[in-house]
Amino acid sequence: MRKLLFATVAAIGCAVLQFALSGAAFAQQPIVIKFSHVVSPDAPKGKAAVVFKDLAEKYTSGKVKVEVYPNSSLYKDKEELEALQLGSVQLLAPSISKFGPLGVKEFDVFDLPFLMSDDARARQMTASPMMAELNKKLEAKSVLPVAYWDNGAHVYTANKPLIRPEDFRGLKLRISGSRVLDAVARQLGAIPQIMAFSELYQALQTGVVDGQDNVTSNIWTQKYYEVQKHLTVSYHGRLTYALVTNSKFWGSLPADVRGGLDRAVKESTDYFNGVAATDNADALEKIKTSGKIQVHVLTDAEKKAWVAKLMPVHKEMQSRFGKDFVDKIYKASGFIAPQS
Ligand code: LMR
Repeated sequence: MRKLLFATVAAIGCAVLQFALSGAAFAQQPIVIKFSHVVSPDAPKGKAAVVFKDLAEKYTSGKVKVEVYPNSSLYKDKEELEALQLGSVQLLAPSISKFGPLGVKEFDVFDLPFLMSDDARARQMTASPMMAELNKKLEAKSVLPVAYWDNGAHVYTANKPLIRPEDFRGLKLRISGSRVLDAVARQLGAIPQIMAFSELYQALQTGVVDGQDNVTSNIWTQKYYEVQKHLTVSYHGRLTYALVTNSKFWGSLPADVRGGLDRAVKESTDYFNGVAATDNADALEKIKTSGKIQVHVLTDAEKKAWVAKLMPVHKEMQSRFGKDFVDKIYKASGFIAPQS
C-alpha cells in the first residue's frame, strides 16, 4: 500500500514537473521575424539582413529568432509587400520605387533623373525631417519604415551601347516600378515594362526585355553581365531601400525586445551603408574584368545631353506631385535644374 502511494505521488510529481517544464518552454518560444528579400545573399542587402539577424538574436538574448529568406524564395516584389501588410512576414527591405501599388505615390519622386548627385546627399535626404511625413503615409498602410538603406546609383545595361539618349529608341526596358521610371523610359523613346526582380535574368536572356538599370552589385550577383553586352555608367538614378515592418507587429513587441531590435536596426543600417559603396565599386571592377560586357563611362558632355533630354520628366512630374513638394525635394537633395 505504502509502495503504491509512493509510486502515485512520484508519478504526480513527475507530471507536475513535466507540465511546469513545458509551460516554461512555451513561455520561452521565441518571437519569429521572417525577413524576406529579393536579392542574393552576397549583395549588400543580403549581407545586411544576416547582420541584422545575428544582432537581433544577440540583443534580445534569444527572445527573437530571425529567419532570412533571400532571392525571392518566399515572395516576389509585389507579393512581399502584401504579405507584410497581412502579417505573413515581419521585415522587408524593398526599393522605395516599389511603394506605388500601396497607394503611396510620393516615394516615386526619388526616381527623378539625376536628382541626387552623390551618396552623402542621398543619405542626408533619407535622414531629413521631410521623410517623417512620408513615413506616416506608409504607416497608414500598416507598413512602418524603421530605417533607410542607400544602395547607390544606377547604371544601364543592354545589348547595344547606350551612349546618347537616342540609343534608347525602341528598347524594351525593364523597370522596377514607379511612374517616374516609366516616364523616364518613355522620354528616352524606350518601352518600359514593370517586372519582378526575380524574373529579370531570364527575361534578359530570352529577349523579353532588351535592357534594365540597376546597381552594379545586383548586376554582378544576379549575373546580368552574362546576358547583356553593354553597360553604361550613367548614375542617373538611385536605389534606396526602406527597411519596413508591419506597424501592428512592431507596436505589439515588449519594450525590452523592441530596445534590442532598435539597436540591431541601427547597427545593421550602419553596416549596410558602409558596405554598399565598396560592394558596388568592387562589382564594377569584377564585371569589367569578366570580359563579358563592354563598359562605358558617360563623359561630362554625354551626361549633359542625357540631363537635357530628361529634364522634361521633372516638369511633367510637377503636376503629379505638386510644385511645392518637388521644390522641397530639390532643396533636400541639393538638385539644381540646369539652365536651358
Ligand atoms: C530591382 O528590382 O531592380 C531592385 O529593387 C532589387 C533590389 O532589391 O535591389
